[in-house]
Amino acid sequence: MKTLIKNGRIVTAVDDYCADIFIDGETITCIGKTLDMPADKIIDAKDRLVIPGGIDPHTHMDMPFGGTTSADDFQSGTAAAAHGGTTTIIDFAIQQKGGSIMKALDTWHEKANGKASIDYSFHMIVTDLSHGDAVNEMRRLMQHEGVLSCKLFMAYPGVLLVDDATIFRAMTIAGDHGGLICMHAENGVVINEIIARALAEGKTAPKYHALTRPTKAEAEGVNRAIAIAEMAGSPVYIVHLSCYDALKKVKEARDLGVPVFAETCPQYLFLDLSYYEKPNFEGAKYVMTPPLREKWNQEELWTGLRMNDLQVVSTDHCPFCMKDQKQLGKDDFTKIPNGGPGVENRMSLVYNGGVAAGRISVNRFVEITSTAAAKIFGLFPKKGTIAVGSDADIVIFDPNKKMTLSASTHHMKVDYNCYEGMEVTGVTETVLSRGQLVIEKGKYVGKAGSGQFIKRSTIQQALQPALASAR
Ligand code: URP
Ligand code: ZN
Ligand code: ZN
Repeated sequence: MKTLIKNGRIVTAVDDYCADIFIDGETITCIGKTLDMPADKIIDAKDRLVIPGGIDPHTHMDMPFGGTTSADDFQSGTAAAAHGGTTTIIDFAIQQKGGSIMKALDTWHEKANGKASIDYSFHMIVTDLSHGDAVNEMRRLMQHEGVLSCKLFMAYPGVLLVDDATIFRAMTIAGDHGGLICMHAENGVVINEIIARALAEGKTAPKYHALTRPTKAEAEGVNRAIAIAEMAGSPVYIVHLSCYDALKKVKEARDLGVPVFAETCPQYLFLDLSYYEKPNFEGAKYVMTPPLREKWNQEELWTGLRMNDLQVVSTDHCPFCMKDQKQLGKDDFTKIPNGGPGVENRMSLVYNGGVAAGRISVNRFVEITSTAAAKIFGLFPKKGTIAVGSDADIVIFDPNKKMTLSASTHHMKVDYNCYEGMEVTGVTETVLSRGQLVIEKGKYVGKAGSGQFIKRSTIQQALQPALASAR
């Protein structure tokens, strides 16, 4: 299949120019002015941005959590992602405590195989490195399985939390193999004390989820993660950073040249603590970890994105329906499954709040939604840019079209939208994944199973340019 995209404005993290793109099979093979090669399909991109497909490096499809399972599987979740202009996700496999890491990887391959309509990769959530097998398995993951990043939790004691010795051990392994540790940085031990006190006082409503997870607990986690990474000789990537207190720790370290990277998510850029006050248990929609913060933090996060103290906007897409799932915590906020939907809305939200609102350039928009994640996670330049030889993962984006976000029109398999009724400027129109149309003028034309698992290469090699241009 040969495809010609004509008349578009090609925007990458560094370029902005008008040209045509020729795709032969899965790959971009030519970019030039007024190309006229014979093609099976010609797409007119006049008045549209032509950008690299979005990369969302933080999703949880089909994930068992809090006594239930996240509502999107790899079929519905990747189709929804494509609707929103995302062509690659990096999802999280989970090692059962005391269980095999390889078995966890097999389980996630089974969950995704034959279902995804865009490409995907995995991080591994490591919960236990107390025996030699687990250590060897983690090495094998990084050396042979193309899984170069592991997530560790400083939160959720007794479930996912790992101690500092395990963090140090995992970071050392990552450092040895050119891998990266993604850190859920919150002091879960202190948080559990605060939660116990709240419950003893009869504070069971959703808002207490937020009030028992102070920003200082996140900042302490970030600080400790960075210090241990320095001792282990490894870079570290802070996931779902939510507040200024935590951002300050990242910025301080980066100012000293420490290889620390961090993502934030749209929920922390657009939503705030007041959402927990909604009546009729609606606050449960926003029970996610870290929680929503006081509104003033939002502008600080945008500044962090603009100044490159934050490199990536991911979603932490982890949807649970209000019906039957969030309801599990009706009488006790600690039983509300943590997480919210967002994989479909990320690109439009960031364009709207970033470019349309005048906070960031259109190049920076591409960088924080695609290119930086490709570099940090070892996918670049196969993914994350528009260049000859790169995968033809391309989004044709209408920067002027408006859309109202709503559960009644979204494609995520969840019964609410965090941004219900919000109007955004900037809409994904057409999406190609490795040269195949997945979304055509807003309609899904993809195929479950056409998405491939992407083995990633040594992260620290790919990271060198990102490190060099960190400031
Ligand atoms: O509330 C959240 N974020 N749920 C997903 C799990 C995690 O910590 O990323
Ligand atoms: Zn997390
Ligand atoms: Zn997550």
